[in-house]
Amino acid sequence: MRRSRYLQVVASIEQNVPVADSIFLLTLALPTGFFQDFIPGMFSMVHVTETLDPLLSRPFSWAWVDRERGHGKILYRVAGKGTEILSTLHAGEAIRVTPPLGEGFPLTSSPDETPQFLVAGGIGIAPLLSIASEPTAPHPTHLVWGVRDATHRFDLGGIADPLRHISLHLASEDGSCGEVKGSARDLFLSLVGKFTGKNIRIFACGPLGMLKSLHEVCNRESNWTLFISLETSMACGMGLCMGCAVLSSTGRYLKVCQDGPVFDATSLNWKHLHEIY
Ligand SMILES: Cc1cc2nc3c(=O)[nH]c(=O)nc-3n(C[C@H](O)[C@H](O)[C@H](O)COP(=O)(O)OP(=O)(O)OC[C@H]3O[C@@H](n4cnc5c(N)ncnc54)[C@H](O)[C@@H]3O)c2cc1C
Ligand code: FES
Repeated sequence: MRRSRYLQVVASIEQNVPVADSIFLLTLALPTGFFQDFIPGMFSMVHVTETLDPLLSRPFSWAWVDRERGHGKILYRVAGKGTEILSTLHAGEAIRVTPPLGEGFPLTSSPDETPQFLVAGGIGIAPLLSIASEPTAPHPTHLVWGVRDATHRFDLGGIADPLRHISLHLASEDGSCGEVKGSARDLFLSLVGKFTGKNIRIFACGPLGMLKSLHEVCNRESNWTLFISLETSMACGMGLCMGCAVLSSTGRYLKVCQDGPVFDATSLNWKHLHEIY
């Protein structure tokens, strides 16, 4: 274990603003070189107070990074005590964060690559946005985003500007916004049919049920490879507590904080995942 990788550094809050119902955008200024080894899909452990209450840091993906300026954006949904506290912090205040951790998405930069799909459910858009804003992201890319309703939708261009090579497709469960009434999975299925028999890569993040059903769809198509970003409870984020462990398809335990959070969907034991989350 490279210890320095896990040492938290002080970040200065540039902005912490609501962008939709219970969803905030946190912009941080970080030391030079902080994002040097960043790959989209990596996360950091964020300590939301200067005290030990709450004791544990919380894991968040980076939705956008500027490697040169050392700026990063985190999109977060207020879920419980830690994120509630985070939402009360103001510009100019400081918080502690670890450098980017874990395994990110396996991106290629070939312009000849067949289309890739980014499929996001709700706040699962966060790690996928960082792919969308990568200068080397393969193209063309379809970003398929499902939200509950219009109050949970926000302007992506204002977060990751510019979104390179991206076609955005939006679905909402109640039909109040977007192209279709339904889920991200429904919209993905309506778009992907013409790629049967072709090599495509799908990167997804969202509720476990959505990921499982995408896995079932992609498993039926030998040319479609699905990579998912998995959210599990994390106490340490550095491979020590085993709190994030999930079972692999070959029966060994994987640590989401170190072996993931991005996994080839076929490498996981989905029955076990479903039982524990
Ligand atoms: C790799 C990774 C990346 C993530 N990226 C984002 C992101 O970009 N935006 C975002 O809104 N959320 C993200 N999450 C989920 C986020 O970490 C939780 O919503 C947050 O920890 C909840 O903390 P809380 O104190 O508000 O809630 P509480 O429920 O009070 O948290 C209690 C404890 O449970 C853990 N916990 C609770 N829910 C989750 C969860 N869904 N996933 C992981 N740990 C959980 C917390 O870390 C904490 O230790 C990510 C999770 C992981 C594992
Ligand atoms: S969070 Fe402790 S081992 Fe992964």
